[in-house]
Amino acid sequence: MTRLADRTTRIASSPTMKVTATVDRLRRSGVEVIDFGAGEPDFNTPDRVKGAGHSALDANFTRYTPVAGIADLKRAICDRYKSDYGVDYQESEVIVTAGGKQALFNAALALFGPGDEVITHAPYWPTLTEQIKLADATPVLARTYPEDGFAIRAEAILDKVTPRTRGIIVNSPCNPTGALVSEADLGAIADVAARQGIWVVVDLCYEKLIYDAVPHNLPRVLADKCRDLTVLCGSASKAYAMTGWRCGWALGPAPVVAAAGAIQSHATSNVTSITQKAAVEALNGPQATVKEMLDEYRRRRDALHEWLSADARLRCRKPAGAFYMFVDISDVLSGIDQGGLRTSLDFADALLEESRVALTPGEAFDAPGFVRISYATSMETLREGSKRLLEFVAKHAPQTATAR
Ligand SMILES: Cc1ncc(COP(=O)(O)O)c(C=O)c1O
Repeated sequence: MTRLADRTTRIASSPTMKVTATVDRLRRSGVEVIDFGAGEPDFNTPDRVKGAGHSALDANFTRYTPVAGIADLKRAICDRYKSDYGVDYQESEVIVTAGGKQALFNAALALFGPGDEVITHAPYWPTLTEQIKLADATPVLARTYPEDGFAIRAEAILDKVTPRTRGIIVNSPCNPTGALVSEADLGAIADVAARQGIWVVVDLCYEKLIYDAVPHNLPRVLADKCRDLTVLCGSASKAYAMTGWRCGWALGPAPVVAAAGAIQSHATSNVTSITQKAAVEALNGPQATVKEMLDEYRRRRDALHEWLSADARLRCRKPAGAFYMFVDISDVLSGIDQGGLRTSLDFADALLEESRVALTPGEAFDAPGFVRISYATSMETLREGSKRLLEFVAKHAPQTATAR
């Protein structure tokens, strides 16, 4: 028998990545698939950023760098947060990581341990809860609700605080719901965190992908109320279409960053040297591409929403941020005795099998009855996929429910 460490039995592999792997397998075997599963931009990395990567290679910038990142990049991250949010961070308070994922993982390992409870909101991006478990702590879930647009509410989170609460993780914009936390709600969370010495970790990986000009200066709110207990995790992946380069960062108190650096020094060391040079250009250079991509995501979001609204059994709202439509398909599902599709997992499997459309079932995010559609794909693909999805729903929905 293969004897693995206990921690491997506590976690599941990333369900969102599983969809990507299935699509990849089908495509390699020659099957054409519409992919609504991808959690990454379909845009290319901007030319100026690629150029900086090329130049780094040409200059033989290919050796180890300091574990926490080159000084230029740390400066660029601090400068961006200063100019975007008005918060001041020093180089000793920033670490460059292999994506936002490693920033969050470092934070979990540095801050949480056995016996600790860490609150986050559900539906959630599964890595957040699995990382808490990998740190031997216990995830505690505060629900968010579709009728409230899945808004992340202070009350729901603070209700879960106990003497064992060690941290609160907020992901805004949220994957999979696209919902935001308001500055007021985060402020209320921060007040309690400050009083009770609770860490606040914010996953800001989609911070540049917010569609309307709503106040969302989370770093400022936290800097004002509980800077010494705050870790900001960000990423170049989504804003600059750099998922494969693997570059993220964390900003926080120097002792936390030093601990994260020590962990990283024994795990992965520095982020790829070439990537770091490219990220300096991404952060310091003109930001027009960020807005161009956001404008295109907005067009797609609006079109997708309009198309799906043709069938009342697909209940969805326009997300405030990120690039996912989180659709309530419970009206399409059948009861146990009715045959047909019983869960969103069944729905996703059958949709892929019959209609060759891949999407992520809500079970992946602790939200059965929902599916997540990524619209980080071309308008033509979205149109064709929506058509197939509507036909699929018309065929499978129980007869009692009526289409609009
Ligand atoms: C909510 C959320 N946080 C963090 C990440 C991490 O992305 P990366 O490691 O590419 O920066 C992702 C990626 O999908 C995400 O959805």
